[in-house]
Amino acid sequence: MTTIAELHDRARQRLVPEYYDYFAGGAADETALADNERAFRRLALMPRVLRGRADRDISVELPGARASMPVVVAPTAFHRLAHPDGELATARAAAAAGTVLIASMAATVGVGEMAAAARAVDPGAALWFQLYLQSDTRVTETLVRRATDAGCSALVVTVDSPVFGRHERDRRNGFADLPAGFAAENMRDLPGGRRNIEMTPMSWEHLDRLRASTSLPVLLKGILHPEDAHLAIERGADGIVVSNHGGRQLDAVPASIDALPRIAEVAGGRVPVLLDGGVRRGSDVAIALALGAVAVGVGRPVIWGLAADGELGVRQVLELLREEFDHTLALCGGQGPADLTRDLVTVRGPEG
Ligand code: FNR
Repeated sequence: MTTIAELHDRARQRLVPEYYDYFAGGAADETALADNERAFRRLALMPRVLRGRADRDISVELPGARASMPVVVAPTAFHRLAHPDGELATARAAAAAGTVLIASMAATVGVGEMAAAARAVDPGAALWFQLYLQSDTRVTETLVRRATDAGCSALVVTVDSPVFGRHERDRRNGFADLPAGFAAENMRDLPGGRRNIEMTPMSWEHLDRLRASTSLPVLLKGILHPEDAHLAIERGADGIVVSNHGGRQLDAVPASIDALPRIAEVAGGRVPVLLDGGVRRGSDVAIALALGAVAVGVGRPVIWGLAADGELGVRQVLELLREEFDHTLALCGGQGPADLTRDLVTVRGPEG
């Protein structure tokens, strides 16, 4: 396999069609989903020449972690639907790649087991834990405690989901919940007996409460409006993930990469800004970094690798992105991520 697109094809052939649709699909007309990838094609890089430097270093410093490259694993649910090893395979592959795995609250393997699998590969492996704030604060606190006990070095609170997205492929397929034999393992034995993940409108005050209850860095994922970026920083967020949830929540939103520049401007280097949505090539990573991200997350590419070939497939996805990004950096005359500056990005002509 030489590209993520090829791994995607292989995954499509291997997956149960309903599961493929669950992973691949977006909300409503899937406009945002498609635009996430298309928007990168509307942008281009303007390489610099004759800079004469060969010793590149693509590692980056992130909250609570150093990553070997500016690509992390975005949190995605239900990996055991893609491969029997599920999140254990993903955790091992991320650890082998020396990058951060953002464990999903909706994982089909508990965060403690994921951390153990990652640390068996690399004792220094970095994990962050993604959570949706729950209306019962005892539930949120229990989840935070589990993530802390597992050694997660940051929390990623997903703030774009006051309600579930409208996933029409799933409705058509009658795919409403995890099939028998699978469970959201982080949701076991919670106060109040709740088993399912609640998506409910939350406020900045709920976030303040979370912030006060943990010493871990807290990043907010799913910010598109610059004013929310401003509020997030004011309220003490340790980082922002610009994301439209892979086009799975509100469909009528811009591509993540189109929302990035204004948010990077608001952040002004005060907190790290990450981006996810539509990253499929190392050149996409470079464009995102040039527009102000410190790193990007990949969601579906990891699922395609997992479905195609388990842990090896995920490793392949991450190594392809590493290789392509490093190659792009070289071709841009850069030595490290800091050399990717905004002047390197231009908009393609109308023929694209
Ligand atoms: C997601 N995403 C997601 N986000 C989150 O915060 N918690 C979650 O449990 C999930 N689950 C999930 C499942 C599936 C199948 C997908 C495709 C996505 C969103 C994810 O973190 C990320 O924002 C997008 O996947 C990024 O877009 P790409 O890389 O898939 O284009």
